[in-house]
Amino acid sequence: MNLNVSLVPFREEHISLTFEWIQDPDFQQLFLMRDRPTWDGHIKYFDNMLKDPAQRVYAILSEGRHVGNCGVKNISLTNKEGELWIYIGDPRMRRKGIASHATRLLAAKGFIELGLERIIVHVADFNVSAIKLYKKLGFIEVPVSDNSKEWTNRGCNIIRMELKKQT
Ligand SMILES: CC(C)(COP(=O)(O)OP(=O)(O)OC[C@H]1O[C@@H](n2cnc3c(N)ncnc32)[C@H](O)[C@@H]1OP(=O)(O)O)[C@@H](O)C(=O)NCCC(=O)NCCS
Repeated sequence: MNLNVSLVPFREEHISLTFEWIQDPDFQQLFLMRDRPTWDGHIKYFDNMLKDPAQRVYAILSEGRHVGNCGVKNISLTNKEGELWIYIGDPRMRRKGIASHATRLLAAKGFIELGLERIIVHVADFNVSAIKLYKKLGFIEVPVSDNSKEWTNRGCNIIRMELKKQT
């Protein structure tokens, strides 16, 4: 299927639809959101993200339509690693291969544009779709690092996976 997937820098115009997507309780559980989203909190969250030099945030477009978001956070140019996240906001747009395309595009940006050598993901052990997606793209499960404080007390087991730059 020609999905014509592209990534564009996340901008203000992408905020409202994103706020609609994150109201879904299933999404909140899969994406391990701890707080119920409020509009003010949402604006502040993206404002902080876009100002953070250790992050890159993109809107995912398919056929020119905004269908999800993705990004790399905790970018360390010293360790040459960064942490990838992704979601397809509208459940009807899932299972079409869009996240596979977008993750490949984002990983290429990480490896080529940012010079990373390793891309990490953290995922809840019950998130079968995401685990399958990452495995399909070559991510390998590794032990959760002791430094990953962000991922403690989430009420579930967290799996850490890594994709290394092909040499
Ligand atoms: C995980 C997610 C990003 C996958 O997006 P997607 O566009 O549906 O993924 P794709 O269509 O590219 O599918 C890629 C692979 O993932 C797996 N997969 C995706 N959805 C699946 C499902 N519902 N059940 C089982 N496997 C699934 C399949 O292996 C699939 O490959 P295949 O179609 O060749 O079998 C999407 O389900 C989502 O946004 N979930 C909510 C947020 C989230 O969990 N993000 C990840 C947090 S770490």
